[in-house]
Amino acid sequence: MSGCPYFEKKQLLFQNKLHPKEEEDDSQTGVNKASKGGIIYGDYLQLDKVITAQVLQSELGGNKIHDEHLFIVTHQAYELWFKQILWELDSVRDIFTSGHVRDERNMLKVVTRMHRITMIFRLLVDQFAVLETMTALDFFDFRDYLSPASGFQSLQFRLLENKIGVADSQRVPYNRRHYRDNFRGQDSELLLKSEQEPTLLLLVDQWLERTPGLEEEGFNFWGKLQTNIDDWLRLEKEKLEKIPDSEMKEEMMAELGKQKEIFTALFDEKRHDHLLGKGERRLSYKALQGALMIYFYREEPRFQVPFQLLTFLMDIDTLMTKWRYNHVCMVHRMIGSKAGTGGSSGYHYLRSTVSDRYKVFVDLFNLATFLVPRQWIPKLNPNVHTFLYTAECCDSSYCSSSDDSD
Ligand code: HEM
Repeated sequence: MSGCPYFEKKQLLFQNKLHPKEEEDDSQTGVNKASKGGIIYGDYLQLDKVITAQVLQSELGGNKIHDEHLFIVTHQAYELWFKQILWELDSVRDIFTSGHVRDERNMLKVVTRMHRITMIFRLLVDQFAVLETMTALDFFDFRDYLSPASGFQSLQFRLLENKIGVADSQRVPYNRRHYRDNFRGQDSELLLKSEQEPTLLLLVDQWLERTPGLEEEGFNFWGKLQTNIDDWLRLEKEKLEKIPDSEMKEEMMAELGKQKEIFTALFDEKRHDHLLGKGERRLSYKALQGALMIYFYREEPRFQVPFQLLTFLMDIDTLMTKWRYNHVCMVHRMIGSKAGTGGSSGYHYLRSTVSDRYKVFVDLFNLATFLVPRQWIPKLNPNVHTFLYTAECCDSSYCSSSDDSD
């Protein structure tokens, strides 16, 4: 001991830090359960398979290229998330196909899972930034080793597109061939099956067709809306006619004419079917009415969750488009205008896929064209008002103990 009081105090503090009294240290109060047996982390996650699955082709070729590891891990991370999205999507499609969606309490499950899908997509859209830390030259160093492998052969990506409802007729051909020609055996069968099964689009379409309030003998939303819009446009025309002639009046008249055309087209079922045939509309005429009704009355209790669903469906389309866009931007900077390892024109092919042809719920975006001032939205009478407060809970299996509780 030096006898110095300052030194002694410091020494005491230091000792306390090194040997904290055990009963005071809450961070160490747990029990080491793994030592008592049972499944452990690595086994539960089968990490022996996952973290030994990064085989660098450049290393096998005797010329290990550092960045190939990042390239492989990035693709694997994407594929794992694709798997999770398919998992959620299949469960949502099951709720629709089993009719459980008729019990409106199940809509919360649907919406929660759709929300989860959008959150994963947000991650996937941003994830390209990590791979972009690799330079074009670094990629060039190992690119030849992976040819002819290509993301184009991603089974899960195609399943995802098909199950959401990307139309075969809307796809950009791949070197003038059908996309499925690049798949063989079981993969090809799975893809064919996914094209034939009810897509999310079809299931949402059927659900929208049942929107309460569309019944002609009941509230007759569509009939009332058409009458209101006719009255609105007629009144607008009368107002404009009273204005003295001027260039501005002409412009306003022309604008009103355009509005009239838009709404005349909206109420023309034959035109709708024509656009449907061309792939420019994807929802049936009745489903479109249901969607517009949910838009207008989204604040009514019974329409709040359906409105959220429609919003998430648009989010998915938007995020898929952003995914395609970010992917093609990255491809451009990595390979310029070179052909892809899978054999396509590369950048030019991918750029043509960033288009509305791949938007499944394009009609939901276009609904904004048909919005009308609030005062022209058909008023709900007391009967309908009550009706939109009362959800349908018809599915008894919802409460059954044998039902899956996932
Ligand atoms: C350096 C990075 C990348 C490059 C240079 C690249 C390049 C390409 C090219 C050129 C194509 C067109 C097909 C071909 O001819 O090969 C393609 C398609 C594709 N890639 Fe990538 N890619 C990269 C990263 C990724 C990543 C991280 C994913 C994540 C899964 C991915 C998924 C896909 C998918 C799904 C397609 C098919 C797209 C479609 O046909 O619409 N790619 N890629």
